[in-house]
Amino acid sequence: MTKHNQWSSKLGFILAAAGSAIGLGAIWKLPYVAGTSGGGAFFLIYLLFTVFLGAPLLISEFIIGRSTQKEAISAYKSIAPNSSWHFVGILGVGTSIVLLSFYSVVGGWIVNYLLRSLTGSLSKLELVDYQQLFGTIISNPFQAIGAHLLFIILTVLIVQGGVQKGIERVSRFMMPSLFILFIILVTRSLTLEGAFEGVSFFLKPDFSAVSSETILFALGQAFFALSLGISTMVTYSSYLQKGESLPRSMFSVVGLTILISILAGLAIFPAVFALGFEPTEGPSLIFTVLPAVFNEMAFGTLFLVLFLALLLFATITSAISLLEIIVASLTKGSNDTRRKMAWTSGIIIFTLGIPSALSFGLLENSLIFGLTFFSLMDFLVSNIFLPLGALLIALFVGNKIPKEILYKEISQGSSVPYQLFKLWYFLIRYVTPVAIIFVFLHALGIFSFIKKMVLTFG
Ligand code: PFF
Repeated sequence: MTKHNQWSSKLGFILAAAGSAIGLGAIWKLPYVAGTSGGGAFFLIYLLFTVFLGAPLLISEFIIGRSTQKEAISAYKSIAPNSSWHFVGILGVGTSIVLLSFYSVVGGWIVNYLLRSLTGSLSKLELVDYQQLFGTIISNPFQAIGAHLLFIILTVLIVQGGVQKGIERVSRFMMPSLFILFIILVTRSLTLEGAFEGVSFFLKPDFSAVSSETILFALGQAFFALSLGISTMVTYSSYLQKGESLPRSMFSVVGLTILISILAGLAIFPAVFALGFEPTEGPSLIFTVLPAVFNEMAFGTLFLVLFLALLLFATITSAISLLEIIVASLTKGSNDTRRKMAWTSGIIIFTLGIPSALSFGLLENSLIFGLTFFSLMDFLVSNIFLPLGALLIALFVGNKIPKEILYKEISQGSSVPYQLFKLWYFLIRYVTPVAIIFVFLHALGIFSFIKKMVLTFG
């Protein structure tokens, strides 16, 4: 076997992990799901899940990866040999394939938008024109499938080059640029006339809009945005040297993800209200609102091109991590077959993504359980498989790795006070599993069923 891949610096790992986390989850999905699920209340629940469940889980995935220096499936095998725990890794790889198949459809929309903005055809349109244009991009089968293919090819090309060369170098410069552009965008959005209504929609929780479904969505959203539950972070941290500080990496990744979630919300909602869009517009939200905000700016076209390029970059760094976990598991760390496996996986993912790409046009009315293929895949991955994977990882870390070993692992490369460790241990061993099970049962309506029974027979 060839030498195990490694990040070349501390910053390299943080950038790559943050690059995996920050993507469509925080920038595209969170605003539109919050928009249809009560705004501020959804956002607050998402934040609570991110801090109390997501952050401890992130450290857990880091521990599994760094301590074993192995990719998703082998990592569980090496900690718990002769058991079925490696199923968690297999579940992760399978979920990644499905996730990437529809993720790259949205990635394709960005590619399409970027190409159009380069030709100037996105500027100075009326509001309805943006909606119409977006409608065409997503519903035209050739455009949707072609862009989806282009996005997958880009991802495969980067992954076949290996983690260091491919991911680290570009991230160093693109991530800070993304933040700067978001700050410019937020400033413009907040200074639009009538912006305040949007700020209050986004930040003032209205709990009357919260249902058990909203809570499940917020849970899925928290895991989705931090790339948790499918062992992506296990794989990435297996390329980490033993001396790096895990808590510090965790704080950076969680902090940056929360920051970008807030910036995205503050860029979008004030503009939604000021420019006369509807917050409940759904998946098209950022694609129609943001170009309209850029329209209101000096050098708007230039900024729009820059923004789309950075959004594409953020999306690709997440897609890379999804493909990396698949390729790393198939190659078992050997660089000899990396290229072949990257292309083979790319072809499978592309094929699986075709019905998702057609879900906004040709297959719009072919519903399964009332959902399009795209929405069904998204629902299954985000709200079932990611939380399920997260539950299993929490149970694995809380029950299969002795407490002293966990403390030793967390303290390697950083000095963690024992009290803080105990708090983390409590969260991961008890709070996380109980909370996830509770949210699942709640969404299944079990509690209201019991309440009804008690009221009827009690
Ligand atoms: N965190 C990515 C995003 O928010 O766009 C999506 C993602 C990447 C989810 C990798 C899960 C994952 F393992």
